[in-house]
Amino acid sequence: MVDIAENGRTWLLTGPTSGYALHLTEEHELLHLHWGPRIALADAEALAVRPLPGYRPFESPLDGREEYPVEGGPRFVRPALSVRTDERRGTEWAFEAYDTEGDELRLRFRDDAVSLTLHYRMRGDVVERWVTVGNEGHARVELLRADAATWTLPDRDGWRLSQLHGRWAAESLLTSAPLTYGDKVIGSRRGHTGHQHLPWVALHTDAGEEHGEVYGCALGWSGSWRIAVSQLPDARVQITGGAGYDDSGLLTLAPGESYTTPVFAGLWSDGGFGGASRAWHAYQRAHVVPDADRDRPVLFNSWEATTFDISEEQQATLARRAAAIGVELFVVDDGWFGARTSDRAGLGDWTPNPDRFPNGLKPLADYVHALGMQFGIWVEPEMVNPDSDLYRAHPDWVQYQFGRKRTEFRNQLVLNLAREDVQEHLWQQLDGLLSSAPVDYVKWDFNRCFTDAGWPGEPYPQRLWVDHVRAFYALLDRLRAAHPGVAFESCSGGGGRIDLGVMSRTDQVWTSDNTDPLDRLAIQHGFSQIHPARVMAAWVTDSPNTQLNGRVSSLRFRFVSAMAGVLGVGGDLSEWTEEELAEARQWVELYKEIRPVVQHGDLYRLRPPEGGLSAVQYTLGDESVVLAWLQAQRYGEPVPAVRLRGLDPAASYECRETGEVHRGAVLLHHGLDTGLRGDLDATVVRLRRI
Ligand code: GLA
Repeated sequence: MVDIAENGRTWLLTGPTSGYALHLTEEHELLHLHWGPRIALADAEALAVRPLPGYRPFESPLDGREEYPVEGGPRFVRPALSVRTDERRGTEWAFEAYDTEGDELRLRFRDDAVSLTLHYRMRGDVVERWVTVGNEGHARVELLRADAATWTLPDRDGWRLSQLHGRWAAESLLTSAPLTYGDKVIGSRRGHTGHQHLPWVALHTDAGEEHGEVYGCALGWSGSWRIAVSQLPDARVQITGGAGYDDSGLLTLAPGESYTTPVFAGLWSDGGFGGASRAWHAYQRAHVVPDADRDRPVLFNSWEATTFDISEEQQATLARRAAAIGVELFVVDDGWFGARTSDRAGLGDWTPNPDRFPNGLKPLADYVHALGMQFGIWVEPEMVNPDSDLYRAHPDWVQYQFGRKRTEFRNQLVLNLAREDVQEHLWQQLDGLLSSAPVDYVKWDFNRCFTDAGWPGEPYPQRLWVDHVRAFYALLDRLRAAHPGVAFESCSGGGGRIDLGVMSRTDQVWTSDNTDPLDRLAIQHGFSQIHPARVMAAWVTDSPNTQLNGRVSSLRFRFVSAMAGVLGVGGDLSEWTEEELAEARQWVELYKEIRPVVQHGDLYRLRPPEGGLSAVQYTLGDESVVLAWLQAQRYGEPVPAVRLRGLDPAASYECRETGEVHRGAVLLHHGLDTGLRGDLDATVVRLRRI
């Protein structure tokens, strides 16, 4: 809901628990007024008449107070917008008009021939912000930097910054530290979102898991990006974010062209990290993730079991075993196409390998369907091996710098998706592929960073960075529209492309190539700060762990770890014993029962993964599911009971595993005994209100 003051200069957006207000001065300065609990329009108007601090030597009264600080005029903070024309650099905005459409508020400004529109939309308690810059003149306009939004926090002492950092096989690890004066910058200059940071920050002072104020900001962009958290000299804090890492030139706008930034979303919660993440999850399920009300199926993927060594017969054998344990979606990973028998060749040639699939993919797809499962395939369309028919035919289709060495990470090069001929080729290939066999699911991978992002002959080659992402999105959108029954997974060597932008066009994401069930608990803990279990793919793989560390763990521990998200199986089922298969079947059955609660319920992180015992709880209606893991029991000490959340203290709950009836107040205040013991133990407890 948007409330507007009578003078048309103060705006208030209101969500279920929060409010956001801004004000335009007579001097055309757009000031931030409020972001926090709900307030009345009269409160916003009272804030609007509070005087600014006045000019002091060396300080600008606008700094730390503007909604969208730009380069130009008396401003010394990090500019969200930096524009260069043939005549000058920087902008001076005159307000033109505002309008609303549904729940969207738009404020329009102009500086000569350049137009600027600030967009605001409240969805739940999430404020979505983005900006459009247009060139309405006759000359070229260069956008050196165009961020989506600047968020301003209220004055508080002792801000702390939480972030999700990582690397390959160790994504989304949560860390928190005091904010100090200056700028803290996170981002990616790799061409994709990156494993190193999820584009999310949370600012807080004294918040805990279930109490206190948390301000979160998350960017919806799958290319290079930057979020800067600035603590200004007067201790004000602003958070600025958008596409691109540097300030050295994003795009040029020809006359008549415009640039729309990605969405930079912000959320205020006074329910601590748990309350904030539940609000983020609800927002993504309601407004971001396509068809989020549908359950995601249990999948099987043979990558860890077989890597590149695949054949139709071997996949059919695995499919029979997968179907027998209750898998619903069978995915053929890398190695089915072109000359792809290792990572040295074939990438780019999206036709089935004739030695491996002599009659194409259709016979296997039909077989998988006959077994009662959906059929999925792996692709990596943005890449090419130099040893491929595609590269031999079009060596100029890759990103490269004329006369410079090039880097072949994983023996592959990045296609220049900014080129229209490349876009059209990929569309033909993928549309043809999805039409040639009954494919229900596509795992879309991206396995290397940009390093030689050149485009010889193009007058403004750096536009490739933005245009690659736009082309990737457009391709996904077009494929989804043409093949509405196909689901997509975003993968980038695990979790290298996870953000709200890709999430709005894919059905789930591959969280990490690290499938070690213990490491996963920390990765999943971080992931859950922003994204819901409904999109978090997790596989049960072999023990000892084949990929990373050789860790031995029980099937029980591996399943309960993976059941915290969208369950998949990635072990070599042809090596599993009859007993293991029978046990796996029971776990899959149990997962299907708890799936609605896990995938669509509210998440409570009961105990973090550090230390011995960790647990999460999902609740939906009268149902609750607790997943608990014990890393190692020490000194024979009894394992503590786990205090539950989100229950009615006056109600009673029946435990489906034991038949015991527990009182809500007891579970909330004294906890549930999980019965865990020893090393790497885990359990699932289902509770139903009676
Ligand atoms: C990436 C993915 C893996 C697998 C391989 C195939 O690393 O993250 O799951 O698909 O590519 O080459």
